[in-house]
Amino acid sequence: MKTTLSYSNPAELEAECLAVVVVDQGEKDKPAPVVLGGNQAVQNAASDLLTSGEVSGKMFETVMIHRPQGLKTRRLLLVGGGKAKDFSLSEVRKLAGTAVRFLKPKQIRSLAFLLPDMPSGGADAVKAAVEGAYVGNFDPDTYKSDRKDQLIQELTLLAPAGADRGALEKALAEARVVGESQNFTRELVNEPGNRMTPTTLAERARTMVAEVNSPHLSIEVLGPEKIRELKMGAFWSVAQGSDEPPQLIVMRYSPPGAPEKPVLGLVGKGITFDSGGISIKAADGMEKMKYDMAGGAAMLGAIRAIALLQPKIRVVGIVCATENMPSGKAQKPGDVQIAMSGKSIEIINTDAEGRLVLADGLAYARQLGATHLIDAATLTGAVVVALGGVNAGVFANNDEMYSRFEQAERRAGEKMWRMPLDDEYRELIRSGIADIKNTGGRYGGAISAAMFLKEFVEDTPWIHLDIAGTAWTEENKSWIALGPSGIAVRSIVEFVKEMAG
Ligand code: BES
Ligand code: MN
Ligand code: ZN
Repeated sequence: MKTTLSYSNPAELEAECLAVVVVDQGEKDKPAPVVLGGNQAVQNAASDLLTSGEVSGKMFETVMIHRPQGLKTRRLLLVGGGKAKDFSLSEVRKLAGTAVRFLKPKQIRSLAFLLPDMPSGGADAVKAAVEGAYVGNFDPDTYKSDRKDQLIQELTLLAPAGADRGALEKALAEARVVGESQNFTRELVNEPGNRMTPTTLAERARTMVAEVNSPHLSIEVLGPEKIRELKMGAFWSVAQGSDEPPQLIVMRYSPPGAPEKPVLGLVGKGITFDSGGISIKAADGMEKMKYDMAGGAAMLGAIRAIALLQPKIRVVGIVCATENMPSGKAQKPGDVQIAMSGKSIEIINTDAEGRLVLADGLAYARQLGATHLIDAATLTGAVVVALGGVNAGVFANNDEMYSRFEQAERRAGEKMWRMPLDDEYRELIRSGIADIKNTGGRYGGAISAAMFLKEFVEDTPWIHLDIAGTAWTEENKSWIALGPSGIAVRSIVEFVKEMAG
């Protein structure tokens, strides 16, 4: 999508379609819809509809006017933004996506979006609108032979004439990188297990690094022999059951002029298919377990964005990629495994495999010098029970790092909710035969999984994102397609930008 800024008078803009936000400034039952940021000409063109009572400005309402009077655009699209007093950047993001998704099936290929005036300034609005438009423009590839591409090809953002153009251009360039990186993650997650094996994932990571083409970003992929040589007994215990070789993807971003410390370690769960292993899952819904590499894909997207945005901070990215399969070589409940850190683990359920691969991934990130850690994983069904599809679960062993992450997540417009890690929960993973066991029972399942990971980060400040409920959008929404969401990419990028100062 070609994305540009324009400072022309909205009335003079010649476009296939001009999309504007309508909010409701009225009291309880008396809607008073107005166009946000529109000049008098735009307001007039919409006034018949706005006063007719047919349009209330409620969230995601869409009405198209053809040949609007007094405007040069061929069409005017009114997009409802809800109550004026609740209107924020997160609405801007979703409404830009809504406009894109509304127009796509209508053979319209170019769109102008009138930026609403935001109290935080124009740059934030540009960022939100561009990110939202990229998210909306993505439709997951399908293998239907009659599939048509319906992408919006051109997006023009109409900014107020008095805006700080330098700041807006910078915001646009950054948002483009972030939007494309989030969609790169979504492409990876969308692929079925037969087309996205650990080897394919590593290949895609290599291609991404080659395309970014930065002297400061490098990649190394360690195969089965190296994984064994490093004594990654937890990672290997999952990989041993599959005919597909596991891959440990290691990326390093070291920009010139960055201090030796901090080093941020990004660790992603890359299970390209999770059958459960010997503790095999029920057949119902098992096909969804192709998205069990969404945490790993999020880290690849985040590293891509970071390398392109060039913040002055060192980052190490690690993706532990393997299948979890039953076979004659697969591990069994009752087995005891020794992780790279030396800790012994009693395997109670082979379906609790994410924490096993992450145990060694987190330890390896520390070995490579990470002073701070973030992991992302579709880790537990329990987090879906707790938070549904709205919020990702966040866990942190360090309040300072958490509060910085919370700010980042807010700026990124990604919803997450903090979950506890009290010492009392450690009890849940006590084993009779080994240092710890790999499941903690039905109650507090997302927490016992996080407590397990905590054993391997020790005192390194760490954020754990359980994205099992949020990595896949279960239904089409006005601003995002059904399928992979790309959750966590934007928050991590925001966090890194802030950390680099
Ligand atoms: N990949 C699953 C978690 C998951 C569930 C992701 C639903 C996305 C949607 C994970 O590996 C798993 O199987 N977890 C088990 C752990 C249990 C055996 C302790 C679970 O949550 O049931
Ligand atoms: Mn599992
Ligand atoms: Zn899994």
